[in-house]
Amino acid sequence: MSDTNAKLTIGDESWDLALQEGSVGPSVLDIAALYKNTGHFTYDPGFTSTASCESKITYIDGEQGTLLYRGYPIEQLADHGDFLETCYLLLYGELPTKAQKDDFVHRVTYHTMIHEQMSRFFTGFRRDAHPMAIMVGTVGALSAFYHDSTDISDPHQRMVASLRMIAKMPTLAAMAYKYHVGQPFVYPRNDLDYSSNFLHMCFAVPCEDYKVNPVLARAMDRIFILHADHEQNASTSTVRLAGSSGANPFACIAAGIACLWGPAHGGANEAALNMLAEIGSVDNIPEYVRRAKDKDDPFRLMGFGHRVYKNYDPRARIMQKTTHEVLAELGMRDDPLLEVAIELERIALNDEYFVEKKLYPNIDFYSGITLRALGFPTTMFTVLFALARTVGWIAQWKEMVEDPSQKIGRPRQLYTGYPSRDYMPISQRR
Ligand code: CMC
Repeated sequence: MSDTNAKLTIGDESWDLALQEGSVGPSVLDIAALYKNTGHFTYDPGFTSTASCESKITYIDGEQGTLLYRGYPIEQLADHGDFLETCYLLLYGELPTKAQKDDFVHRVTYHTMIHEQMSRFFTGFRRDAHPMAIMVGTVGALSAFYHDSTDISDPHQRMVASLRMIAKMPTLAAMAYKYHVGQPFVYPRNDLDYSSNFLHMCFAVPCEDYKVNPVLARAMDRIFILHADHEQNASTSTVRLAGSSGANPFACIAAGIACLWGPAHGGANEAALNMLAEIGSVDNIPEYVRRAKDKDDPFRLMGFGHRVYKNYDPRARIMQKTTHEVLAELGMRDDPLLEVAIELERIALNDEYFVEKKLYPNIDFYSGITLRALGFPTTMFTVLFALARTVGWIAQWKEMVEDPSQKIGRPRQLYTGYPSRDYMPISQRR
């Protein structure tokens, strides 16, 4: 990292600020000592111009629409790799050799069962509980079951916790689904690959054979790859912030899941599919586009726009291809929601409002149609996102914990409330 200087001038005084260069992407002004040297804070609600950390994991070029995991373009990983290989890459920084991959796959596969007593957690939830509520609770509860991997100062325990979460997340997600639909839990099967095993745990029932369709398993795997990491997004920043206090990794990932749940983040795929269903027909699209552009109407086109991408989200392209593959495999080429989606995309991409604001479809625009075709109810969509993002959260958490300069995250504020005032007895208040 080469340093040059920038100058900050306030009134008559000037200070030098180090300008740090990353390996690619915009340089950053190092303001860590700003308050100490100048007595000023910076103000950046929503962190639109703030780099919260140094990271070597994921890079996004929002203007170009590129996404790299450890330097590898997402398109290449989605086309040629698989999810567990991607997990290895994100966690360890390099693609595995054959021997490393076999060992990693083996270790993940043999950690997929959860402590049997954990199943009682599920039955404590109401049947109509949202599966994300179940996930927040049960993932946090892992810290009550795996005490031997909560000491974050021990590298071995950190790695065991990481593997446990990658391995057990599909089991927990499938159990949340089974509980939600009132079916018995299905145990993991070690003879199946990661994504096939997940589909099996979700869709098999004890009364008949379930054969995993390899085209659908490959689509599931690709969806997991596409969602595996996305640099310092809201949920990842939440995991880092929670972890910065030294909290155990299971609790940190539960915090990430809570953040992901919101409709502006992971909940957007559910919201996008609901929106497509509400639009219902191509004829209604102009009315919804008009509403999305109306400043006085809170309606937004879900699955459109992104904080970082000001170009087509590269994941959306791969997702669109996957959607077509899944619908073709299932004989659902004429899905009316796909028809609405394609036409909505066409109209929005040619509309001045969306063009000028650089609003393009994001990954969530097409993922909902695919997940629904795979058989998942909308309430499970964000759970699947959480399952896939777990490895990204863990890789980022691990990077932070292993950084010797790591400090507890503690932003400052621009205070606009009352200055100091004296307590008033209740009899004198009006
Ligand atoms: N439909 C209509 N107008 C929009 C939309 C949209 N989907 N997204 C942004 N805008 C407008 C917004 O009203 C604003 O207009 P103006 O400048 O006139 O005030 C302008 O575009 C900039 O939007 P912003 O809200 O300042 O941008 P942001 O970076 O704060 O928000 C976003 C990004 C993703 C929250 C937002 O685009 C959005 O709400 N999209 C719909 C939800 C969605 O699809 N989220 C999934 C994101 S991808 C998955 C993930 O990473 O979690």
